[in-house]
Amino acid sequence: MSTPSAITRFRLDDFRRAMAAGEKLAMLTCYDYTTATLLEASGVKLMLVGDSAANVILGHDTTLPIPLDFLIELTAAVRRGAPSAFVMADMPFGTTSSVSAGTRNVVRMVQRSGCDAVKIECSRGHIRLIQNLADQGIAVFAHLGLTPQSVQRTGYKAQGRSAHDALMIADLAGDLINAGASGILLEAVPPEIARLITDRLDVPVIGCGAGKYCHAHVVVLHDLLGLTPRSPRFAPRIGDAGLSTRRAVARYIDDIAKGRYPKPAQGFSLSAEERAILKEELKHWAGDRD
Ligand code: KIV
Repeated sequence: MSTPSAITRFRLDDFRRAMAAGEKLAMLTCYDYTTATLLEASGVKLMLVGDSAANVILGHDTTLPIPLDFLIELTAAVRRGAPSAFVMADMPFGTTSSVSAGTRNVVRMVQRSGCDAVKIECSRGHIRLIQNLADQGIAVFAHLGLTPQSVQRTGYKAQGRSAHDALMIADLAGDLINAGASGILLEAVPPEIARLITDRLDVPVIGCGAGKYCHAHVVVLHDLLGLTPRSPRFAPRIGDAGLSTRRAVARYIDDIAKGRYPKPAQGFSLSAEERAILKEELKHWAGDRD
């Protein structure tokens, strides 16, 4: 039985159809309700509630400290703001370290947030978990290439820059898809890797600094909007929301300092009758306090 709903959601099948038709899709990170409504109204069909929230929302210098429950709350907010988008939720560091813990945590994310898919930074050790999640009908995107949760081992450097490493990544992508992953997200790798994968595997491939052969591209929204002090070389800085925010806030400070804010129309008034009563009361009020 299906439940009636006025909203048509962009689903994994729509993503596959777009891919088959050669359409290229835009994905953006999103971490809150209001922004989700704006992105949805702008026509963004794919949103990622990334653990990059650890950096841009919480101010950490790595993604490692972000708690699962915090990311679940953010994802649920994005879901409410963008009911028709395909919302992908990141699984934070340490939440997929075994099949049993990983399954428990992913199920918790899916049930509580209403996301359409999860993304897991994968190594070969994740194959059994991916199999188990696929058996339960959960759509998983395997994040390969630069995986920021491995910063202590690899640093933040582009990956797959030798023929050997490129083949290792493409090979692992194949094994994860055979295990049941629904798609791949490639970060900071040469375009040849995306080409190898898109030529051989019939699944959506999302690039984040992975070149033109990917079916969709994702960047951190704060980089796109110019809200961060600097961004990776592959992230276009199209907006200048940093500048417009600084200007608006400076104007607010100045309006208060110069008495331009608040104006009477920006507040609430007493009726003439209540004002007269108040005036009368105040005559006694001063006396009562003596
Ligand atoms: O957390 C994130 O935002 C990501 C993307 C940049 C791929 O994983």
